[in-house]
Amino acid sequence: MMEVLEGRGLVKRYPNTVAVDGVHFRLRKGEILGLLGPNGAGKSTLIGMLSTLIPPSEGEILLDGIDVLKNPNIIRNRLGVVPQEIALYPDLTGEENLLFFGRVYGLKGKALRRRVEEVLEIINLTDRARERVGRYSGGMKRRINIGAALLHRPEILFMDEPTVGIDPQSRRLILDTIKDLNREGLTILYTSHYMEEVDFLCDRIYIMDHGKIIADGTKEELIARISNEETIELDFERNGKEFLPALEGLPGVHAVHQRGAKIEIVVEKGMVSLGKIVHLAENSKTSLLSVEVKKPTLEDLFLHLTGRGLRE
Ligand SMILES: Nc1ncnc2c1ncn2[C@@H]1O[C@H](COP(=O)(O)OP(=O)(O)OP(=O)(O)O)[C@@H](O)[C@H]1O
Ligand SMILES: [Mg+2]
Repeated sequence: MMEVLEGRGLVKRYPNTVAVDGVHFRLRKGEILGLLGPNGAGKSTLIGMLSTLIPPSEGEILLDGIDVLKNPNIIRNRLGVVPQEIALYPDLTGEENLLFFGRVYGLKGKALRRRVEEVLEIINLTDRARERVGRYSGGMKRRINIGAALLHRPEILFMDEPTVGIDPQSRRLILDTIKDLNREGLTILYTSHYMEEVDFLCDRIYIMDHGKIIADGTKEELIARISNEETIELDFERNGKEFLPALEGLPGVHAVHQRGAKIEIVVEKGMVSLGKIVHLAENSKTSLLSVEVKKPTLEDLFLHLTGRGLRE
């Protein structure tokens, strides 16, 4: 597959932080690329640099091999950006907001009206287009935000956490819209800290933490990195104090993480039987509610690489 956009050695330093710390980045034509990372990982800063809104401290950005930092105008018409923060006029209707953003992109007259109608169809808001945005739900606002980035028919779309804080139905609709847009040829960079979304949408994934890409590949390639492990999840009612140390001491146990009334045990595949765990629980006055072996997920990979969860 062909690369459309490439970042080389991108660094962004702020007085007290290095927000992006030496990132090599490749976006291929026609793919949905996921950028997965916890709060503060540097996702928005990386997107900001790639879209020429934030000047990098170091590094190069190439669009079809041409230096974007020296020729920032070459990317503008080809790229749409859905920012993390919603920026709409609450006193205008959804339709009026789109008309406004269309004019910013240089659309006018009939062509503008027609495109706004098309975009309203794409984001499924034709019925509610004439209501003030101030009365929209969070999900509807997000959809207008996405629509605004589509007006000028970009070939590349950056989406920065477009489903945060919305209801499940709107989320579903947005995820399906993204798949449809991609099927019609749009190349998409999708940023999220929801593993499930990236899992559902993305062909390739970059996992980012503390300004660095710590792993990349297809979902299958990433999962294969931890395929010698499995996770056993326990729910308990009461937890005896010897239970955790006893688990940690079992042969084949790589890590034990407790979160509230849940314990996750990362074990070498096939090495630890559920019977053994139940037996240990009985011996340490722990009453278990459930014991389950889970297939490895991207979340487990993140935990494996950093020792932390994506949402902690
Ligand atoms: N303008 C700025 N000035 C100083 N520090 C900044 C600035 N923008 C971002 N940072 C810092 O850079 C780091 C990365 O921030 P960034 O917003 O890129 O992370 P993120 O992955 O998008 O996080 P989130 O999931 O919360 O949106 C954070 O530590 C943040 O505080
Ligand atoms: Mg962000």
